[in-house]
Amino acid sequence: MIRRLLATAAVVLSGCASGSDQPVSTASPAAEPASSQLEFALVPIAYDLGLPDWTPPPLEPASNRLNAAKVELGRRLFYDVRLSADKSKSCASCHKQELAFTDGLPVSPGVTGQFTPRNSMSLANVAYTPVLTWANPLLHSLEQQALVPLVGQEPVEMGMAGLDEELVTRLKAEPIYRDLFPKAFPDMGGEISLATVVRALSAFQRTIISVNSPYDRYRYGGDVDAISESAIRGEALFFSEKFECHHCHNNFNMSDNVIHARAPHPEIAFHNTGLYNIDGKGAYPAHNTGVAELTGRPEDMGRFKAPSLRNVAVTAPYMHDGSIATLDDVLDHYAAGGRTIPDGPNKGIGRDNPLKSSFVPGFEMSAEERADIIAFLRSFTDEDFLKDPKFSDPWQEGSTP
Ligand code: HEC
Ligand code: HEC
Repeated sequence: MIRRLLATAAVVLSGCASGSDQPVSTASPAAEPASSQLEFALVPIAYDLGLPDWTPPPLEPASNRLNAAKVELGRRLFYDVRLSADKSKSCASCHKQELAFTDGLPVSPGVTGQFTPRNSMSLANVAYTPVLTWANPLLHSLEQQALVPLVGQEPVEMGMAGLDEELVTRLKAEPIYRDLFPKAFPDMGGEISLATVVRALSAFQRTIISVNSPYDRYRYGGDVDAISESAIRGEALFFSEKFECHHCHNNFNMSDNVIHARAPHPEIAFHNTGLYNIDGKGAYPAHNTGVAELTGRPEDMGRFKAPSLRNVAVTAPYMHDGSIATLDDVLDHYAAGGRTIPDGPNKGIGRDNPLKSSFVPGFEMSAEERADIIAFLRSFTDEDFLKDPKFSDPWQEGSTP
């Protein structure tokens, strides 16, 4: 299914991999022709994102440069239910600003009621992510990724497969779009098409940046009072060899997947943290095997992307399948060196998972240490970001889609 989608992406986005700029995408373990056609030449974003000096400039495809009209158009499209078959869902249905662009559900229903196998991900700082979604080493660009919810069929999310013409008809009927597409895409003759829709959505998403949490102000902004004493102790624990968190959550997004102008060679990694061990040999539930689903390699079983921990206090429930409800429970999982599920179909002792990362050995943790790590995680909540009008629903009464 993913393969078919990437082939569609190659057609919809053909022309993207233009120019002689050096593409910086890495070869992926399961590289195939469809994905290699989609390597994007990346360049630093020149559009003014209003970032503080310490923040590294994100990259964008040379073939889809940001401009103000494109960002505004992408924002409108992101909040537009006309992008779903029955006009019931927009991207924002599963990516809500006040929840750092997650949806608060373990897994999310699409237009047919079918659930996504995985938990909706935060879009904060997604411009810095060189590999998208929980466990797909082939998805390198937002332009490709947007096609998954729009036209993906397993699961159906927005249900637009085969409805390209219907989509264009719907969008052409909107005066705001008739104005914005030409301004956004002078290079593409103002075309209203699936290709320009995914480009505009991607442009908007590249502006969804969160860099003003109390921890940012403390660590990078020089404001020594921005976080509590408890959070400062939590930071030391997080970066200690006893707790090991920093091995996988280590860049300024607390992840180990990153790409930007100062680090143009993408860092990409996937890990097994011992969430499951169904058969004693490391098996994860059949519909959620991680990177193994695409590569077919047994050693990739249970390997997922370490998500950014920005705004993590508001992005519950946690993990690729939303199977952990609270940050306290996440700490229990790591302290145990892998989760034990005592009964039911997923019964198993994650601690004994033979495929688990050696950085999840388990540890003893005092009540104070637990509180400190949680205070540290809470210091990543960027309240301005969660309310910033730049990212909110632009459709006003009277022009609602
Ligand atoms: C039905 C719910 C739903 C809808 C609608 C939806 N998404 Fe998502 N989104 C998800 C889920 C679930 C994931 C994780 C997918 C996975 O790992 O397989 C995700 C992942 C993503 C990611 C990857 C983020 C990362 O850090 O890797 C991006 C980007 C994204 N969605 C953008 C969009 C855009 C753009 C739209 C609208 C065109 C959209 N989503 C519509 C549920 C949804
Ligand atoms: C071996 C790499 C690794 C280490 C070490 C690690 N993590 Fe993670 N972390 C991950 C991965 C991978 C996931 C997603 C796992 C999944 O869904 O199966 C994750 C998920 C999380 C989540 C859930 C985020 C979300 O949005 O769902 C939190 C919170 C978290 N880790 C905190 C920590 C803390 C605190 C520590 C140290 C005690 C730690 N991690 C150590 C790799 C790691």
